[in-house]
Amino acid sequence: MYYYEPAKGHGLPHDPFNAIVGPRPIGWISSHDREGHLNLAPYSFFNAFNYIPPIIGFCSVGRKDSLNNIEQTGEFAWNLATRPLAEAMNQSCAAVRRRSTSSP
Ligand SMILES: Cc1cc2nc3c(=O)[nH]c(=O)nc-3n(C[C@H](O)[C@H](O)[C@H](O)COP(=O)(O)O)c2cc1C
Repeated sequence: MYYYEPAKGHGLPHDPFNAIVGPRPIGWISSHDREGHLNLAPYSFFNAFNYIPPIIGFCSVGRKDSLNNIEQTGEFAWNLATRPLAEAMNQSCAAVRRRSTSSP
C-alpha cells in the first residue's frame, strides 16, 4: 500500500496524483471559436458523470483554447479516443499557432 498526504508532499520525482486513477479514458474534445476556427485536443480528466440527467465533462488544467472556445460558443463535442486513434490523439495535444490569413 502506498499513500501520501498532499499537504506534506509526495517525495517522488513526479507527482503521482496524475496517475492515481488509471488507466482512464481520454477525451478528444472538439470545439470552435466564434469565428468558426476548429480545435481538437485530448483531455484525460474526462468522464461521464451522471446518467439521468446525462452529464459529461472534462477539466482544463489552466486556461486553454478548448475552454476559451467553449465559453464563446457554449458548445463542445465529447469524443472518446479509441486505441487506433491513440497516436493521432497524442499528437493533437501540441499547441498549434493559427496561420494568419495574410501569410503566404
Ligand atoms: C493523453 C493526454 C491527456 C491530457 N489531458 C489533459 C487534461 O486532462 N487537462 C488538461 O488541461 N490538459 C490535458 N492534456 C494537455 C492538453 O491536451 C494540451 O495542453 C493541449 O495543448 C490543450 O489544447 P487546447 O489549448 O487546444 O485546448 C493532455 C494531453 C494528453 C496528450
